[in-house]
Amino acid sequence: MEPAVGILGTGSELPEKVLTNFDLEKMVDTSDQWITERTGIKERRQAAPHETTSTLSVMASKKALEMAGITPQDLDLVICSTISPDMPLPSTAAFIQRDLGARACCAFDLAAACSGFLFGMTVAEQFIRNGKYKHVLVIGAELLSRYVDYKDRETCVIFGDGVAAAVLGPVTPPSGILASDLHTEGLYADHLFIPAGGTASPASYETVARGGHYIKMRGNELFKVAVRNMEEVSRRVLEKAQVCTNQIDLFIPHQANQRITEAVRERLGVAPEKVYSNINRIGNTSSASIPICIDECVRSGRLKRGDLILMAAFGAGVTWGAVLMRW
Ligand code: ACO
Repeated sequence: MEPAVGILGTGSELPEKVLTNFDLEKMVDTSDQWITERTGIKERRQAAPHETTSTLSVMASKKALEMAGITPQDLDLVICSTISPDMPLPSTAAFIQRDLGARACCAFDLAAACSGFLFGMTVAEQFIRNGKYKHVLVIGAELLSRYVDYKDRETCVIFGDGVAAAVLGPVTPPSGILASDLHTEGLYADHLFIPAGGTASPASYETVARGGHYIKMRGNELFKVAVRNMEEVSRRVLEKAQVCTNQIDLFIPHQANQRITEAVRERLGVAPEKVYSNINRIGNTSSASIPICIDECVRSGRLKRGDLILMAAFGAGVTWGAVLMRW
């Protein structure tokens, strides 16, 4: 019989430096009032020059492994979900595997932007269910500050840095992942992208001079698609698992914008006290946002064994997905 698959341990790591709305007021034409009202964000974290996606990932992963009660040698696979890798080559997962001291297990990066952690969880789940692997480390890691133009007020106020990891493995039912659903729609690929630095526009003095290495975003268009798709995909996993909205104990949406969270919550009919949000303190950390929330909930005791959690995400690509799991 296929094993049930769940989370055995979590860990997160945030850079120490806090970048407040008041700091941003001094850098671009914005205000604490605008950012708070339009996004719900008050502050976000910014990595120090010596920190990289992999160094923070290793710290978060060690905490997750400790909670799971396993060693790096017990890992069969490392998946690092990131759109802000240490380098274009090799994968950030390779550095993480090396620096964790994991044995020569498989390790690769996954690029699905803010939906990446849920994509990674679902990939890990398949390998564990079919018996190929027992322990898979899934990391959501972003240092978006390295790709943000601090002269562009539409993006620099939203994004923050952070990393979180989860060890997935076999669990005893009724715990485990109950349903998941993932999507990509490339028609909206130009709504959120980094135009230069890849094969379409290799890095050059010219691409740097025009800021082609920075994130470009059509936030307003994304907002509407995000709300609609996160609602639809959440309904789909609830239907697959034959679960009603009022049975959910905790709803963890990707922390993109507090107004997106609120709109999705309202459309789904989830009670406000069942929604977890940390966007005021951390901002939008893309694929790290959901695992950071999970880790905070586990460590604060908000998440208890037997709780039913709905997670939903939306990001560049565009990608979106949801996972329903019993803790
Ligand atoms: N400070 C002050 N004014 C601003 C700022 C700012 N930081 N940013 C934009 N404005 C202005 C605009 O210029 C515009 O001015 P205008 O009316 O004079 O033209 C006005 O505010 C309204 O702009 P909108 O873009 O309509 O603002 P909106 O309410 O949509 O908020 C935001 C913008 C926060 C970006 C929002 O659209 C959003 O959160 N979008 C979703 C982002 C998202 O989900 N991305 C995908 C996930 S992230 C990932 O995958 C990596």
